[in-house]
Amino acid sequence: MRTLLKDTGSIFIHCDKSGEHIVRAILDQVFGASNFQSEIIWTYKRWSNSKKGLLPSHQNIYFYSKSKNFKFNTIFTSYSETTNIDQILQRRTRDEHNKSVYDKDSSGNIKNGDKKKGVPLSDVWDIPYLNPKAKERVGYPTQKPILLLERILKLVTNEGDLVLDPFCGSGTTCVSAKLLNRNYIGIDKSSEAVELTHERLVNPIKTESNLLKKGRDSYVNVDKDALSYLNGIEYNPVQRNKGIDAILLEQYENSPILVRVQKDGEPLDQAASLLAKAMKIKKSKKSILIQRAIENNLFENMIDFKGMKIVLSPALQISHLIKKS
Ligand SMILES: C[S@@+](CC[C@H](N)C(=O)[O-])C[C@H]1O[C@@H](n2cnc3c(N)ncnc32)[C@H](O)[C@@H]1O
Repeated sequence: MRTLLKDTGSIFIHCDKSGEHIVRAILDQVFGASNFQSEIIWTYKRWSNSKKGLLPSHQNIYFYSKSKNFKFNTIFTSYSETTNIDQILQRRTRDEHNKSVYDKDSSGNIKNGDKKKGVPLSDVWDIPYLNPKAKERVGYPTQKPILLLERILKLVTNEGDLVLDPFCGSGTTCVSAKLLNRNYIGIDKSSEAVELTHERLVNPIKTESNLLKKGRDSYVNVDKDALSYLNGIEYNPVQRNKGIDAILLEQYENSPILVRVQKDGEPLDQAASLLAKAMKIKKSKKSILIQRAIENNLFENMIDFKGMKIVLSPALQISHLIKKS
Protein backbone atom coordinates (compact mmCIF):
# COMPACT_ATOMS: atom_id res chain seq x y z
CA MET A 1 0.00 0.00 0.00
CA ARG A 2 2.85 2.38 0.72
CA THR A 3 4.25 1.76 -2.74
CA LEU A 4 0.88 2.33 -4.37
CA LEU A 5 0.02 5.53 -2.49
CA LYS A 6 0.58 8.90 -4.05
CA ASP A 7 2.85 11.29 -2.23
CA THR A 8 -0.25 13.20 -1.13
CA GLY A 9 -2.13 10.05 -0.07
CA SER A 10 -3.02 8.67 3.36
CA ILE A 11 -3.86 5.29 4.79
CA PHE A 12 -6.40 4.39 7.48
CA ILE A 13 -6.08 1.03 9.20
CA HIS A 14 -8.53 -0.61 11.51
CA CYS A 15 -7.88 -3.84 13.34
CA ASP A 16 -9.60 -5.20 16.43
CA LYS A 17 -8.06 -5.08 19.88
CA SER A 18 -6.31 -8.42 19.48
CA GLY A 19 -3.79 -7.01 17.01
CA GLU A 20 -4.04 -3.25 16.83
CA HIS A 21 -0.94 -2.61 18.97
CA ILE A 22 1.12 -4.80 16.64
CA VAL A 23 -0.34 -3.10 13.57
CA ARG A 24 0.64 0.30 14.97
CA ALA A 25 4.26 -0.79 15.42
CA ILE A 26 4.36 -2.18 11.88
CA LEU A 27 2.87 1.04 10.50
CA ASP A 28 5.61 3.02 12.26
CA GLN A 29 8.19 0.85 10.53
CA VAL A 30 6.61 0.99 7.09
CA PHE A 31 5.41 4.60 6.94
CA GLY A 32 7.77 6.12 9.51
CA ALA A 33 6.72 7.36 12.96
CA SER A 34 6.90 10.94 11.68
CA ASN A 35 4.10 10.17 9.24
CA PHE A 36 1.78 9.03 12.01
CA GLN A 37 -1.04 11.58 12.01
CA SER A 38 -3.72 10.36 14.42
CA GLU A 39 -5.16 7.51 16.34
CA ILE A 40 -8.86 7.93 15.73
CA ILE A 41 -11.13 6.67 18.46
CA TRP A 42 -14.42 5.62 16.93
CA THR A 43 -16.81 5.55 19.85
CA TYR A 44 -20.42 4.43 20.08
CA LYS A 45 -22.97 3.50 22.70
CA ARG A 46 -23.55 -0.20 23.28
CA TRP A 47 -26.02 -2.25 25.17
CA SER A 48 -24.41 -3.63 28.26
CA ASN A 49 -23.10 -7.15 28.21
CA SER A 50 -22.68 -9.37 31.19
CA LYS A 51 -18.93 -9.98 30.73
CA LYS A 52 -16.67 -9.07 33.64
CA GLY A 53 -14.72 -5.87 33.02
CA LEU A 54 -15.26 -2.58 31.23
CA LEU A 55 -17.78 -2.46 28.42
CA PRO A 56 -15.87 -2.03 25.14
CA SER A 57 -17.37 0.92 23.27
CA HIS A 58 -14.67 2.12 20.89
CA GLN A 59 -12.46 1.03 18.03
CA ASN A 60 -9.07 2.44 17.01
CA ILE A 61 -8.25 3.57 13.51
CA TYR A 62 -4.67 4.54 12.65
CA PHE A 63 -4.15 7.37 10.22
CA TYR A 64 -0.75 7.61 8.52
CA SER A 65 0.27 9.75 5.58
CA LYS A 66 2.83 8.84 2.98
CA SER A 67 4.61 12.18 3.33
CA LYS A 68 4.31 15.58 4.99
CA ASN A 69 2.66 16.73 1.79
CA PHE A 70 -0.56 14.83 2.44
CA LYS A 71 -3.93 16.13 1.29
CA PHE A 72 -6.11 17.22 4.22
CA ASN A 73 -9.47 18.98 4.29
CA THR A 74 -10.17 20.40 7.73
CA ILE A 75 -13.71 19.66 8.90
CA PHE A 76 -15.15 22.08 11.43
CA THR A 77 -17.53 21.12 14.18
CA SER A 78 -19.60 23.28 16.52
CA TYR A 79 -18.20 24.81 19.68
CA SER A 80 -18.82 23.00 22.92
CA GLU A 81 -21.72 24.18 25.08
CA THR A 82 -19.27 25.55 27.62
CA THR A 83 -17.43 27.77 25.13
CA ASN A 84 -18.00 31.46 25.67
CA ILE A 85 -18.79 32.37 22.05
CA ASP A 86 -18.75 36.11 22.81
CA GLN A 87 -15.20 35.82 24.04
CA ILE A 88 -13.81 33.91 21.07
CA LEU A 89 -15.44 36.30 18.60
CA GLN A 90 -13.36 39.16 20.00
CA ARG A 91 -9.85 39.71 18.67
CA ARG A 92 -7.00 39.04 21.08
CA THR A 93 -3.44 40.27 21.19
CA ARG A 94 -0.43 40.07 23.56
CA ASP A 95 0.41 42.83 26.05
CA GLU A 96 3.91 43.89 27.09
CA HIS A 97 4.10 40.89 29.47
CA ASN A 98 3.14 38.53 26.62
CA LYS A 99 -0.22 37.95 28.27
CA SER A 100 -3.22 37.33 25.99
CA VAL A 101 -5.58 40.34 26.21
CA TYR A 102 -8.46 41.76 24.15
CA ASP A 103 -7.31 43.88 21.22
CA LYS A 104 -8.79 47.40 21.46
CA ASP A 105 -9.08 50.27 18.99
CA SER A 106 -7.90 53.83 19.72
CA SER A 107 -11.21 54.61 21.50
CA GLY A 108 -10.78 51.61 23.78
CA ASN A 109 -13.47 49.44 22.13
CA ILE A 110 -12.79 45.73 21.79
CA LYS A 111 -12.12 44.73 18.17
CA ASN A 112 -14.12 41.90 16.66
CA GLY A 113 -12.14 38.93 15.33
CA ASP A 114 -12.37 37.17 11.98
CA LYS A 115 -15.30 34.95 11.16
CA LYS A 116 -15.07 31.77 13.22
CA LYS A 117 -15.67 28.47 11.49
CA GLY A 118 -15.99 26.28 14.58
CA VAL A 119 -13.62 23.77 16.15
CA PRO A 120 -11.55 21.48 13.91
CA LEU A 121 -12.77 17.89 14.08
CA SER A 122 -11.08 15.99 16.90
CA ASP A 123 -9.71 12.46 16.85
CA VAL A 124 -12.66 11.11 18.85
CA TRP A 125 -15.58 10.30 16.58
CA ASP A 126 -19.00 9.54 17.96
CA ILE A 127 -20.63 7.55 15.16
CA PRO A 128 -23.37 5.03 15.96
CA TYR A 129 -22.64 1.37 15.29
CA LEU A 130 -24.93 -0.10 12.66
CA ASN A 131 -27.81 -1.56 14.61
CA PRO A 132 -28.93 -5.06 13.63
CA LYS A 133 -32.07 -3.70 11.94
CA ALA A 134 -30.39 -0.80 10.05
CA LYS A 135 -31.44 -0.68 6.38
CA GLU A 136 -27.77 -0.32 5.47
CA ARG A 137 -26.93 -3.69 7.02
CA VAL A 138 -26.10 -6.41 4.54
CA GLY A 139 -25.34 -9.17 7.01
CA TYR A 140 -21.54 -8.93 6.79
CA PRO A 141 -20.24 -9.44 10.34
CA THR A 142 -17.55 -6.74 10.27
CA GLN A 143 -19.51 -4.22 8.20
CA LYS A 144 -18.64 -0.61 9.05
CA PRO A 145 -21.08 2.30 8.83
CA ILE A 146 -20.96 4.39 5.64
CA LEU A 147 -20.92 7.50 7.86
CA LEU A 148 -17.54 6.45 9.25
CA LEU A 149 -16.00 5.85 5.82
CA GLU A 150 -17.49 9.04 4.42
CA ARG A 151 -15.86 11.05 7.15
CA ILE A 152 -12.47 9.50 6.41
CA LEU A 153 -12.84 10.09 2.68
CA LYS A 154 -13.93 13.72 3.13
CA LEU A 155 -10.85 14.39 5.26
CA VAL A 156 -8.18 13.20 2.87
CA THR A 157 -9.69 13.04 -0.63
CA ASN A 158 -11.55 15.28 -3.05
CA GLU A 159 -14.04 14.45 -5.79
CA GLY A 160 -12.40 12.46 -8.58
CA ASP A 161 -9.62 11.06 -6.34
CA LEU A 162 -8.95 7.32 -6.30
CA VAL A 163 -9.62 5.26 -3.16
CA LEU A 164 -8.38 1.70 -2.65
CA ASP A 165 -9.63 -0.78 -0.07
CA PRO A 166 -7.72 -4.06 -0.40
CA PHE A 167 -9.85 -5.75 2.30
CA CYS A 168 -13.19 -4.37 1.23
CA GLY A 169 -15.49 -6.97 2.83
CA SER A 170 -19.05 -5.86 2.21
CA GLY A 171 -17.74 -2.90 0.20
CA THR A 172 -18.49 -0.02 2.56
CA THR A 173 -15.45 1.98 1.39
CA CYS A 174 -16.42 1.59 -2.28
CA VAL A 175 -20.05 2.52 -1.60
CA SER A 176 -18.98 5.60 0.39
CA ALA A 177 -16.54 6.61 -2.36
CA LYS A 178 -19.29 6.27 -4.95
CA LEU A 179 -21.70 8.39 -2.88
CA LEU A 180 -19.02 11.09 -2.60
CA ASN A 181 -18.03 11.00 -6.30
CA ARG A 182 -14.62 9.49 -5.71
CA ASN A 183 -13.21 6.69 -7.87
CA TYR A 184 -12.64 3.41 -6.10
CA ILE A 185 -11.10 -0.05 -6.25
CA GLY A 186 -12.10 -2.79 -3.84
CA ILE A 187 -10.28 -6.10 -3.36
CA ASP A 188 -11.28 -9.10 -1.29
CA LYS A 189 -10.19 -12.73 -1.28
CA SER A 190 -13.76 -13.84 -0.63
CA SER A 191 -15.91 -14.10 -3.78
CA GLU A 192 -18.98 -13.66 -1.59
CA ALA A 193 -17.62 -10.27 -0.42
CA VAL A 194 -16.94 -9.18 -4.00
CA GLU A 195 -20.45 -10.17 -5.09
CA LEU A 196 -21.99 -8.34 -2.17
CA THR A 197 -19.92 -5.23 -2.92
CA HIS A 198 -21.15 -5.30 -6.53
CA GLU A 199 -24.76 -5.56 -5.37
CA ARG A 200 -24.36 -2.67 -2.94
CA LEU A 201 -22.77 -0.49 -5.56
CA VAL A 202 -25.81 -0.91 -7.82
CA ASN A 203 -28.14 0.26 -5.09
CA PRO A 204 -26.25 2.04 -2.29
CA ILE A 205 -28.32 2.31 0.88
CA LYS A 206 -27.16 4.59 3.64
CA THR A 207 -28.82 4.69 7.02
CA GLU A 208 -29.26 8.27 8.15
CA SER A 209 -28.35 8.69 11.77
CA ASN A 210 -30.94 10.73 13.61
CA LEU A 211 -28.57 10.67 16.53
CA LEU A 212 -25.93 12.53 14.53
CA LYS A 213 -28.41 14.85 12.86
CA LYS A 214 -30.20 15.94 15.99
CA GLY A 215 -27.40 15.33 18.51
CA ARG A 216 -27.39 13.07 21.53
CA ASP A 217 -28.90 15.75 23.74
CA SER A 218 -32.11 15.82 21.71
CA TYR A 219 -32.77 12.28 22.88
CA VAL A 220 -32.55 13.29 26.50
CA ASN A 221 -36.21 14.01 26.99
CA VAL A 222 -36.57 12.68 30.49
CA ASP A 223 -38.80 14.69 32.77
CA LYS A 224 -36.14 16.15 35.05
CA ASP A 225 -38.72 17.56 37.47
CA ALA A 226 -40.32 14.15 37.77
CA LEU A 227 -36.99 12.49 38.45
CA SER A 228 -36.18 14.96 41.22
CA TYR A 229 -38.82 13.09 43.30
CA LEU A 230 -36.56 10.05 43.20
CA ASN A 231 -33.42 11.66 44.61
CA GLY A 232 -31.81 9.22 47.04
CA ILE A 233 -33.19 6.08 45.36
CA GLU A 234 -31.32 4.14 42.67
CA TYR A 235 -33.19 4.18 39.38
CA ASN A 236 -32.80 4.26 35.62
CA PRO A 237 -34.57 7.18 33.94
CA VAL A 238 -36.92 6.13 31.15
CA GLN A 239 -37.09 8.12 27.94
CA ARG A 240 -39.73 8.14 25.27
CA ASN A 241 -42.29 6.20 27.26
CA LYS A 242 -45.66 7.76 27.94
CA GLY A 243 -46.40 5.62 30.98
CA ILE A 244 -43.28 5.72 33.13
CA ASP A 245 -40.57 8.12 34.23
CA ALA A 246 -38.18 5.63 35.81
CA ILE A 247 -37.51 2.01 36.70
CA LEU A 248 -35.98 1.31 40.09
CA LEU A 249 -32.77 -0.70 40.25
CA GLU A 250 -34.36 -2.79 42.99
CA GLN A 251 -36.73 -5.45 41.64
CA TYR A 252 -39.87 -6.96 43.08
CA GLU A 253 -40.30 -10.73 42.64
CA ASN A 254 -38.01 -10.64 39.62
CA SER A 255 -40.06 -7.97 37.96
CA PRO A 256 -39.25 -4.29 37.39
CA ILE A 257 -40.66 -1.64 39.73
CA LEU A 258 -42.01 1.19 37.58
CA VAL A 259 -42.43 4.79 38.69
CA ARG A 260 -44.62 7.51 37.28
CA VAL A 261 -44.98 11.04 38.58
CA GLN A 262 -48.36 12.65 38.00
CA LYS A 263 -47.93 15.39 35.42
CA ASP A 264 -49.21 18.96 35.65
CA GLY A 265 -52.95 19.02 34.99
CA GLU A 266 -53.13 15.24 34.59
CA PRO A 267 -56.03 13.53 36.41
CA LEU A 268 -54.74 10.84 38.74
CA ASP A 269 -56.82 8.08 37.14
CA GLN A 270 -55.33 8.91 33.74
CA ALA A 271 -51.79 8.75 35.17
CA ALA A 272 -52.69 5.44 36.79
CA SER A 273 -54.11 4.01 33.53
CA LEU A 274 -50.92 4.84 31.64
CA LEU A 275 -48.82 3.32 34.39
CA ALA A 276 -51.01 0.21 34.51
CA LYS A 277 -50.60 -0.21 30.76
CA ALA A 278 -46.80 0.06 31.08
CA MET A 279 -46.92 -2.53 33.91
CA LYS A 280 -48.69 -4.95 31.63
CA ILE A 281 -46.19 -4.47 28.79
CA LYS A 282 -43.16 -4.70 31.08
CA LYS A 283 -44.65 -7.58 33.10
CA SER A 284 -44.21 -5.53 36.24
CA LYS A 285 -45.80 -6.65 39.51
CA LYS A 286 -45.24 -3.44 41.42
CA SER A 287 -45.35 0.20 40.51
CA ILE A 288 -45.37 3.53 42.26
CA LEU A 289 -47.42 6.51 41.26
CA ILE A 290 -46.39 9.79 42.83
CA GLN A 291 -49.45 11.94 43.29
CA ARG A 292 -48.89 15.68 43.02
CA ALA A 293 -52.42 17.09 42.92
CA ILE A 294 -55.29 16.89 45.37
CA GLU A 295 -58.12 14.66 44.08
CA ASN A 296 -61.45 13.52 45.40
CA ASN A 297 -62.84 9.97 45.19
CA LEU A 298 -59.33 8.65 44.99
CA PHE A 299 -60.07 5.16 46.24
CA GLU A 300 -63.09 4.51 44.04
CA ASN A 301 -61.00 5.20 40.96
CA MET A 302 -57.90 3.42 42.08
CA ILE A 303 -59.37 0.11 43.14
CA ASP A 304 -58.52 -1.73 39.91
CA PHE A 305 -54.85 -0.96 39.67
CA LYS A 306 -53.31 -4.06 41.17
CA GLY A 307 -49.73 -3.78 42.41
CA MET A 308 -49.75 0.00 42.11
CA LYS A 309 -48.97 2.07 45.18
CA ILE A 310 -49.86 5.74 45.34
CA VAL A 311 -47.38 7.89 47.20
CA LEU A 312 -48.15 11.50 48.00
CA SER A 313 -45.56 14.05 46.96
CA PRO A 314 -43.93 15.90 49.89
CA ALA A 315 -45.80 19.08 48.90
CA LEU A 316 -49.12 17.26 49.05
CA GLN A 317 -48.28 15.62 52.37
CA ILE A 318 -47.38 18.99 53.85
CA SER A 319 -50.58 20.56 52.60
CA HIS A 320 -52.60 17.66 54.14
CA LEU A 321 -50.75 18.14 57.43
CA ILE A 322 -51.49 21.85 57.46
CA LYS A 323 -55.15 21.18 56.76
CA LYS A 324 -55.41 18.63 59.58
CA SER A 325 -53.74 20.90 62.11
C1 LIG B 1 -12.83 -6.80 8.49
S1 LIG B 1 -13.32 -7.30 6.89
C2 LIG B 1 -13.62 -5.76 6.11
C3 LIG B 1 -15.02 -5.25 6.36
C4 LIG B 1 -15.35 -3.98 5.65
N1 LIG B 1 -14.64 -2.85 6.23
C5 LIG B 1 -16.86 -3.71 5.65
O1 LIG B 1 -17.32 -2.60 6.03
O2 LIG B 1 -17.63 -4.60 5.28
C6 LIG B 1 -11.84 -7.87 6.23
C7 LIG B 1 -11.94 -8.52 4.85
O3 LIG B 1 -10.64 -8.84 4.41
C8 LIG B 1 -10.70 -9.99 3.59
N2 LIG B 1 -9.36 -10.56 3.50
C9 LIG B 1 -8.68 -11.19 4.47
N3 LIG B 1 -7.46 -11.55 4.03
C10 LIG B 1 -7.36 -11.10 2.76
C11 LIG B 1 -6.34 -11.15 1.77
N4 LIG B 1 -5.20 -11.73 2.02
N5 LIG B 1 -6.60 -10.58 0.59
C12 LIG B 1 -7.78 -9.99 0.32
N6 LIG B 1 -8.78 -9.92 1.21
C13 LIG B 1 -8.57 -10.47 2.40
C14 LIG B 1 -11.75 -10.84 4.26
O4 LIG B 1 -12.37 -11.71 3.34
C15 LIG B 1 -12.73 -9.80 4.81
O5 LIG B 1 -13.82 -9.62 3.93
